[in-house]
Amino acid sequence: MTAAPIRSHPHRGEAPPRELLDDAERMSVDELRARQLERMRWTLRHAYENVAHYRRAFDAAGVHPDDCRELADLARFPTTSKADLRDHYPFGMFAVPDAQVRRIHASSGTTGRPTVVGYTERDLDTWAGVMARSIRAAGGRPGDRLHVAYGYGLFTGGLGAHYGAERLGCTVIPVSGGMTPRQVQLITDFRPRIIMVTPSYMLTILDEFTRQGLDPQLSSLEIGIFGAEPWTEQMRLEMEERSGIHAVDVYGLSEVIGPGVAQECVETKDGLHIWEDHFYPEVIDPDSGAVRPDGELGELVFTSLTKQAMPVIRYRTRDLTRLLPGTARPAMRRMEKVTGRTDDMIILRGVNLFPTQIEEVVLRTDGLAPHFQLVLTTKGRLDHLTVQVEARPDCPADRREAAAAEVVKTIKDTVGTSVEVLVVEPETLARSSGKIQRLVDHRGAGSR
Ligand code: DLL
Repeated sequence: MTAAPIRSHPHRGEAPPRELLDDAERMSVDELRARQLERMRWTLRHAYENVAHYRRAFDAAGVHPDDCRELADLARFPTTSKADLRDHYPFGMFAVPDAQVRRIHASSGTTGRPTVVGYTERDLDTWAGVMARSIRAAGGRPGDRLHVAYGYGLFTGGLGAHYGAERLGCTVIPVSGGMTPRQVQLITDFRPRIIMVTPSYMLTILDEFTRQGLDPQLSSLEIGIFGAEPWTEQMRLEMEERSGIHAVDVYGLSEVIGPGVAQECVETKDGLHIWEDHFYPEVIDPDSGAVRPDGELGELVFTSLTKQAMPVIRYRTRDLTRLLPGTARPAMRRMEKVTGRTDDMIILRGVNLFPTQIEEVVLRTDGLAPHFQLVLTTKGRLDHLTVQVEARPDCPADRREAAAAEVVKTIKDTVGTSVEVLVVEPETLARSSGKIQRLVDHRGAGSR
C-alpha cells in the first residue's frame, strides 16, 4: 500500500503510512454511511429502552427508534441540551446498571451543577482508540514521548490524552496543569516530542522558557496538540513561529466522550476530521433547530454511535462551526475550527462579537502580545467593552498608543462596533494554566 502524499509545505507534517490507519479511516463513504446507520439505529433503541428521559422525549415528539430508516431520519428526533443533563443530575442519563459504569467524569461549567458523564469498560476502550487515532493524525507515533499538561481529574483532558497516548504506544509523562517552571524543567530534562495542553497554557509555558533564558525553538518538542478552548489561525502562527512545532487542533466535549471527537491532521492542517464512525455530526440553526446543509455555519450537534453508559442523541454543543468534506481522511467530514460558543458571544450594542475575533486582530498588530482580557462594564446605559492587552516586551513605548488605535479601528471596520483598547505592561495580565476565561463581566445585574 502506498502512503498518502506528503505535502512539501514547510509547516505541514508527515501523514501516517496508510497501513497504520484504523480500518474506519480507510473506509469508503458508502461503507462508513452503512456502519453509521446500523450504529445509529442501535443507539436510538438503547437510549429509548434504558433512559427514561429519552423515552419521554421521543414519545412526546411522536417518534420511535424504528422510524430511523436512513441517516437523515435522525432530524425527526428531539435534540438534547445541557439542561437535560443537569435535570437528571447526577446519573439519570445513564443507560446501563451502575455496576457496569467503570469511570465518571464531570465538566464544571460556569454556573450550577456539573454535567456528569459515565463510561463502561467498552466506552473507555473506544475513547482510548479515538484519542490514539487523534494523536497519530497529529503526527504522533509509537515510541514517542508525550507530555500531558491538560488537567487530570474530573476534567476529561488529562486522562483522555493519557490513555490515548498509551494506546498508541507512546511513553506518557502525566504532568497535569500548573507549576509552570516545573513544566519547563520536565520538558528540558525528559525531552518529549509531543505536548498536549490548552493553547492558552502553552503560551504561558513558552513565556516561562523565555523567562528561564531558554529558547523554545531548541526544545525537543515537535508537535503540540491543542484544544479544550477556541484558538485562531493567528495563534497557530504565533506558536509555530515561536517554538518551531506543528500546532494542531483537537476537539471534544465530555458529554460526547471527551477529547478525541475530532482532530486536525498534521499533513493538511485544514480543520478537524470528525471520527464519524463513533460520533455523528449535524449542524443546526441555533434558533429554529432546523438542520443546515454541509458548508453552512451553525451549532454543532452530536449523536454518539457506540456509547453504552451514556448515549447522547442530538446533543447541542453550543459550538459554532460548519461541516466540510473530508481531505486527509476522505470519507470523514471535517469541522472548521470552532469560532466560538453561542454562550461566549458578546452582544455589544446589538452587534455580535466573539473573543476569537479580538484574538485575530490583537495578534495581527505589531507590538502586541497574545495575552489579552475582555472587560465588560456599563457606561451610562450602554455596555462598554475594554480590551486589555499586553505590549510585547520589545514594543517601544511610543508604539503602544498607535497599536491600540489600530486595534480600535480594525474592530470597528471588521466587526462594526466600538471598543476601548488599553495596552498594559508585559506580564501584568493573569495567565492560564488550563482553559482561559477571556471575558470578565462587570455589568451589574441591576444596570443591564
Ligand atoms: O474540553 C474536552 C477536551 C479536552 C477537548 C482536551 C480537547 C482537549 P469540556 O470541558 O466538556 O471538554 O468542554 C467542551 O470545550 O464544547 C468547546 O466549547 C470547547 N472546546 C473543546 N475543544 C475545542 C477546540 C473538553 N479544539 C467544550 N476548539 C466544547 C474550540 C473547543 N473549542
